[in-house]
Amino acid sequence: MIKPSSSFNYILNYGLEFLKSNSIENPKKEIEIFLCHLLSYSKFELYNSAEKSISLAKVNLLNEWLERRAKREPIQYIINNAWFYGREFYVNKNVFIPRPESERLIEVAINHLRDFDSPKILEIGTGSGCLSISLAIELPNSKVRSIDISEKAINVAKINSEKFHVNNISFKKLDFLKSEMKTFYNFDLLISNPPYIPKKDMESLMPEVRNFEPYNSLTDDSDGLEFYRKFSSDLPYILNSNGIGIFEVGLSAHPKDAKRIFNKIGRSIKLLKDYNGDDRLLIVKL
Ligand SMILES: C[S@@+](CC[C@H](N)C(=O)[O-])C[C@H]1O[C@@H](n2cnc3c(N)ncnc32)[C@H](O)[C@@H]1O
Repeated sequence: MIKPSSSFNYILNYGLEFLKSNSIENPKKEIEIFLCHLLSYSKFELYNSAEKSISLAKVNLLNEWLERRAKREPIQYIINNAWFYGREFYVNKNVFIPRPESERLIEVAINHLRDFDSPKILEIGTGSGCLSISLAIELPNSKVRSIDISEKAINVAKINSEKFHVNNISFKKLDFLKSEMKTFYNFDLLISNPPYIPKKDMESLMPEVRNFEPYNSLTDDSDGLEFYRKFSSDLPYILNSNGIGIFEVGLSAHPKDAKRIFNKIGRSIKLLKDYNGDDRLLIVKL
């Protein structure tokens, strides 16, 4: 426990040692994130203009945050904040935390849609809204429709779309796996980072993921391929003739297993690598 009226340096070192002793992987980075957030400082300001002593209310809050982090709650849920494609998204325990690797989906989508006048985009699995909202902002003439099974996730996405003043987006609560998608047609892009962890692998996930992120944002409760099977059967209805499907895929055998599902319908089916050199994106053209 940090005591009230402790100096900034004491708090910084205490937090660092506390996180280290609780086996948090990047303790320095995390205590800096906590303190920047607590004091509304940039990292530069943290070391150059930090308050000499921190108010009792702030010390109490930091103590609470450190205790939560020691129980492996992800830092993004504790500070209600996650960066994605250069923007800070509000997140809470009802949504999957945006991952840097998913930014590749945005890059590929923008490249493909750059010359379209007013592209129509459909996302399955909105979550925090990071994909839909980034596309809506980067492609201001687009119209984005974004679907999630979770009302609570859609509420978070709506908070984010208001935060970024996005008007070219609409959200709908729907169970994609159980829905007749023929009412969704004429889209130029179907984009999705669906739940793709096979049920049998759930136990081996990091505690931060397994114990905190929404179960149905992680797994399809099956072999991790259910969504791709449904994409494959619905894509011909959803996309117009020069439309494209962009899907995130998992690791090891998952990318190739997912790719195979589209063999019957795709004119061009490609796996693209992320910056670590892993196949993480599946691009399907009909
Ligand atoms: C991996 S998260 C992706 C969230 C966000 N697009 C991102 O990339 O950070 C998958 C999302 O799919 C949603 N989902 C799960 N099952 C669904 C279903 N049957 N129909 C629609 N959405 C579903 C979850 O609620 C979750 O928000």
